[in-house]
Amino acid sequence: MCGIVGYVGDKEAAPILVAGLCNLQYRGYDSAGVALCSADGVRTLKCVGSPENLIPKLASCAVCSALCGVGTTRWATHGKPDVVNAHPHSCGRFHVVHNGIIENEKALKEEYFPNTEFLSQTDTEVIARLLQKFCENNTSICEAIQRLVGVLRGSYALGIVDGERPDVLYAVKNKSPLLIGCGEGFNMLGSDTVAMISHTDKFYEICDREYAVITADDFKIYSSNGKEVRREAFVVACDISDCTKGDYAHFMLKEIEEQPRVIRQILSCYCDETGKVNIDNEIIGKLTHSDRIYIIASGTSYNAGLVGKYYFEKICSKPVDVCMAGEFAYNMPPISQSPVFIFVSQSGETADCISVLSKIKELGFASVAITNCEVSTIFREADHTLLIHAGREIAVASTKSYTAQVAVFALLASALNEKYSKLIAKDLSLAADAMEKACSRKEEYREVAHEYLLNQQSCFYIGRGIDYYACLEAALKLKEIAYIHTGGYAASELKHGSIALIEQGTPVFALSTQKITSLHMLSNIEEVKARGGKVLCISSCQSDDEDCLSIECAAELLSPLVSVIPAQYFAYYAALERGCDIDRPRNLAKAVTVE
Ligand code: AGP
Repeated sequence: MCGIVGYVGDKEAAPILVAGLCNLQYRGYDSAGVALCSADGVRTLKCVGSPENLIPKLASCAVCSALCGVGTTRWATHGKPDVVNAHPHSCGRFHVVHNGIIENEKALKEEYFPNTEFLSQTDTEVIARLLQKFCENNTSICEAIQRLVGVLRGSYALGIVDGERPDVLYAVKNKSPLLIGCGEGFNMLGSDTVAMISHTDKFYEICDREYAVITADDFKIYSSNGKEVRREAFVVACDISDCTKGDYAHFMLKEIEEQPRVIRQILSCYCDETGKVNIDNEIIGKLTHSDRIYIIASGTSYNAGLVGKYYFEKICSKPVDVCMAGEFAYNMPPISQSPVFIFVSQSGETADCISVLSKIKELGFASVAITNCEVSTIFREADHTLLIHAGREIAVASTKSYTAQVAVFALLASALNEKYSKLIAKDLSLAADAMEKACSRKEEYREVAHEYLLNQQSCFYIGRGIDYYACLEAALKLKEIAYIHTGGYAASELKHGSIALIEQGTPVFALSTQKITSLHMLSNIEEVKARGGKVLCISSCQSDDEDCLSIECAAELLSPLVSVIPAQYFAYYAALERGCDIDRPRNLAKAVTVE
């Protein structure tokens, strides 16, 4: 998984590439590299870690004035994240950056390079070598690229420079996103608009198995058989404040505190002045007539999907299966007669989801995407889309996109039941107020994080029903940014095995926001305390107990919107105290574009 950027124009390419790569770090940040082309040849520079580490290398580099180049920021799939495996990979004239996975890498090596020792452990080096080979005997680079598309299997977005044409960028793509950005006197290439948005707002999409030839003042897109393709431009407006931290120490903190505003924004997009929910009638019609809803998602979006299931079942008695995208793709259960598939993905680029989406499309089933990104594969490919209007989420740990997804599920389920359709806007608006109050108590949460999580290696979140679903998200946050092994458990299940892990002082956060389970929760809490667990109950009941943190939840159904907020702060402050890289946790990437 990587982020790609390319530039050809009348300015120095290096600073533009590095800035673009910095904006793409959400796609990976374990190593980076650029290939810069000038009349004197191509120079590649690589580093471990963030693309910012390229800056000192560029300062002492003679080709800094190059007007053309490509770069990547990488999340290692093949080979450890070191300088040898960092992209670009080169062979002869060609220097290649790659996002994706070449599935037939071994077979290609055996067929075309049986006696060659490869320098890296990557699946990208073979691409550079193939290009060099296919260009033997005066074959043009375009013909070589067509042949390349014919032999490569898997996902790839490629940026290529050719030492013999230092004023041209080549781009090829299959199943990984790649866009061309156009401006006066330059053209760019990028995995995402954010790599190019400081320079242009006009973009062209490259589709699967197409390639592009890009110069400073022109570009052409071709199909894999060399036929030129016409493509309409699209314009993306970017709120630059979305891409900066402002006064916040971290994007995660900023994004946590944006949540009340995001909920209000969602309300203004999906409800009319009387508070009635306004959602595309076709979506409502399809859901109404479906016999089962399948929610497909990964990670935080999966956790939001579980809350969505709760809403569909409680609000409109619809049976729902929530499925992990990566599991569902290759382990499909028997599907009901008239299903609707809802894909939940902040990025809209999660490869596991895309794989399911293309399979269910082949089967002719209806699809709805709930996403944050209009310029994304899932947005484009689904039959219908519902945007979550969260604004760009940059921290790898999802916060505002979780609550936004939950809010959109609440609206969608309510739109299927007239009784709720009139109430939900008011309840969501009260929930936004309660979220704001929760955010204003962050100093308390900082103390809790210190008291409960300092030097801890493991932790538990327990809850019942919808609280259990919120626990799964709360636990994920603590794992991914503070590196504390945390389980989200159904409180009722604990005594069936996992309670064996409770020791003297084990931190246990108990979420209790539902009247129907509150007494049972009290018993479960006592069971944990009896085994030495250090319990903090996060409850919607007022209490002066020192081991209870009261939160306000307007409507019980919407409690995950509020109860997740202290949990997000616990994770944030625990990570801060441990010196973790909060916005860029180890081993992770924001958009998981490989299966
Ligand atoms: C959440 O904090 C994670 N970064 C991760 O679990 C994420 O939610 C998952 O990879 C799915 O991403 P998506 O919503 O962009 O599809």
